[in-house]
Amino acid sequence: MGFLDIFSHPLWAALSALLAVVVRLQRRTIWDPKTCAMRLTGKTAIVTGANTGIGKFIALDFARRGARVILACRSESRGQAAATEIKQITGNSDVHLRIVDVSSMDSVRAFAKRILEEEKSLHILVNNAAVSGLPRQITKDGFEASFATNHLGPFLLTNLLLELIKRSAPARIVTVSSLNHKRGEVDFSHFHGKNLVYTMDQVYNHTKLHNIICTNELARRLQGTGVTANSVHPGVVMTEVMRHYPAWLRFLFNLVGFFFFKSPEEGAISPIYCAVSEELEGVTGKYFDSDCSLVLPAPLARDTALAVKDFEFCEKLTSKL
Ligand SMILES: *[C@@H]1O[C@H](CO)[C@@H](O)[C@H](O)[C@H]1NC(C)=O
Repeated sequence: MGFLDIFSHPLWAALSALLAVVVRLQRRTIWDPKTCAMRLTGKTAIVTGANTGIGKFIALDFARRGARVILACRSESRGQAAATEIKQITGNSDVHLRIVDVSSMDSVRAFAKRILEEEKSLHILVNNAAVSGLPRQITKDGFEASFATNHLGPFLLTNLLLELIKRSAPARIVTVSSLNHKRGEVDFSHFHGKNLVYTMDQVYNHTKLHNIICTNELARRLQGTGVTANSVHPGVVMTEVMRHYPAWLRFLFNLVGFFFFKSPEEGAISPIYCAVSEELEGVTGKYFDSDCSLVLPAPLARDTALAVKDFEFCEKLTSKL
């Protein structure tokens, strides 16, 4: 019997079938955007990092539902390409690119200023843009670059747009966090690049924890305003969030990911669920899993005293800039 003959063994067929079932089960969500009839006509939505990956599919869904969609992207050319593609696919011409680099507080302020000047309302804000695996870098604002991009920039952006969002209530703020937050820790010196270990996704994990903590505190502050704020895990998705990883590692992830990871389109489902689903009307301060189920985040993300401290700390850090 040659080596390859083992693949014709019935056991092999049974194993592949089992694998296929496991993969399907793992990818199943309890909500399907295709069966959700919610229209967003007359609504305005902003999606950060919308030129690629999950963000692009979120923006595409909103455009399909008839929203005015603002793609908040760093790259003019890639952002424009995404806007053109979304307009073509959906036939919705109310899709616009606005440039922002969320790692820069100046850029966030300039972006927010323009939005406040140009937009009469804002019903959905999806903080999606993020990086992982960046080497240690300090931005010109003095922040550690991953913290600036994944947390402080989105935090400032949300706060600058908050009055407009409140005036547009009912409105929803969705922060794309990650299951990885469970391995995150809170240490306020991290924001300035101190006491950080740059192994794999460690820094990413910390930033994703801060996402949930501050979103929960925001939700508490927004009680009674008709604006909700929730966090969501999109699933393990092969996206450009890994663009800073070594090529061999990305190759390995691609290979494994082919079987086990979600596509960016599948990863967009739980954020879309948080942004548009009827059953989440009024639901706030919660964390949703990649299958759209309501789950508890890590204990640190449920510590309300810590949330107040973290939120105030981030406010102080970003207010001066
Ligand atoms: C980051 O979180 C993921 C998911 O929980 C975990 O697998 C990984 O080991 C964490 N990374 C580090 C360096 O702790």
